[in-house]
Amino acid sequence: MKNRKKIALVTGASKGIGKAIAEALVKEGYSVIGTSRHPEAIENKIPDVKYVSLDLFHTESIDNLINDINHIDVLINNAGASQMGPIEEVSMEKIRRLFDLLFFGQIMLIKGVLPIMRSQRKGTIINISSLASHTPVPFSSVYASCKAALETLTRGIRNEVFKYGVRLVNVIPSHIKTTIKQEKICSKNSNYIKDLNRIKSIRDKNIMNGTDPSIVANKIIKILNLKNPAPSYFVGKHASLIAFLYKMLPAGLSEKMLRYIFKLNR
Ligand SMILES: NC(=O)c1ccc[n+]([C@@H]2O[C@H](COP(=O)([O-])OP(=O)(O)OC[C@H]3O[C@@H](n4cnc5c(N)ncnc54)[C@H](OP(=O)(O)O)[C@@H]3O)[C@@H](O)[C@H]2O)c1
Repeated sequence: MKNRKKIALVTGASKGIGKAIAEALVKEGYSVIGTSRHPEAIENKIPDVKYVSLDLFHTESIDNLINDINHIDVLINNAGASQMGPIEEVSMEKIRRLFDLLFFGQIMLIKGVLPIMRSQRKGTIINISSLASHTPVPFSSVYASCKAALETLTRGIRNEVFKYGVRLVNVIPSHIKTTIKQEKICSKNSNYIKDLNRIKSIRDKNIMNGTDPSIVANKIIKILNLKNPAPSYFVGKHASLIAFLYKMLPAGLSEKMLRYIFKLNR
């Protein structure tokens, strides 16, 4: 038991940030289980990662994955996708679905691994949030809310499990260069379409010019080597500075700045 390799589960390891994290963990000597909805179809698999199936929209898929786990040292709740649309036009079904993907699915995984980690008296859960939850961008408010909920959940559970040696951490990236899927929800003749298209093109450019995913992976390796990691770590271009300014500036002023940047003034 003492000599076994540490086991890490990385959700959404087929590409982007999750793939970079899986790669870094393998290099660190972890035995890595990586998830995808279609593990058989993954291109350029990382040797030494064991790919398994997980679809966060399906409770049964999450249960099956959890039931197969006996030992686990690290859970990286990373899998996700994005959505953009004016709240008036985003159906309740789509809002609930995004929460299923970015919040309820992550809770199910946390609940699944906690008893194992608690009995081992050791374990780390890292939840991948987004800077969007600190600087809510118009038309991405549902995505930002999912991430804010995840961050608050993390903060709450930390003290529930601290004495059992289990650590939970939020990792909060700014724009990272990936091909993250973003569903655009807005009718062609919507009053909002011009504003939305303008803000979406700024967002798309920022992602295209974003930081390499390895920056998130490297931060996670550093966190895993800490005995008592902090609740949250910002990562990526200007992430800490932007979050700091947004928090410190009077709310009215930071909102005014966002409206100016996105040309949303009357
Ligand atoms: N890119 C950014 O700028 C950025 C910034 C802040 C936060 N984030 C967060 O970082 C995380 C990773 O995003 P990324 O940019 O690396 O995106 P990505 O390259 O599109 O990777 C997303 C991963 O999630 C998996 N996934 C998608 N839908 C899923 C579902 N229904 N069930 C299970 N797995 C699913 C995908 O796997 P399969 O398609 O193989 O199933 C894929 O491996 C997300 O939580 C995202 O919100 C990203």
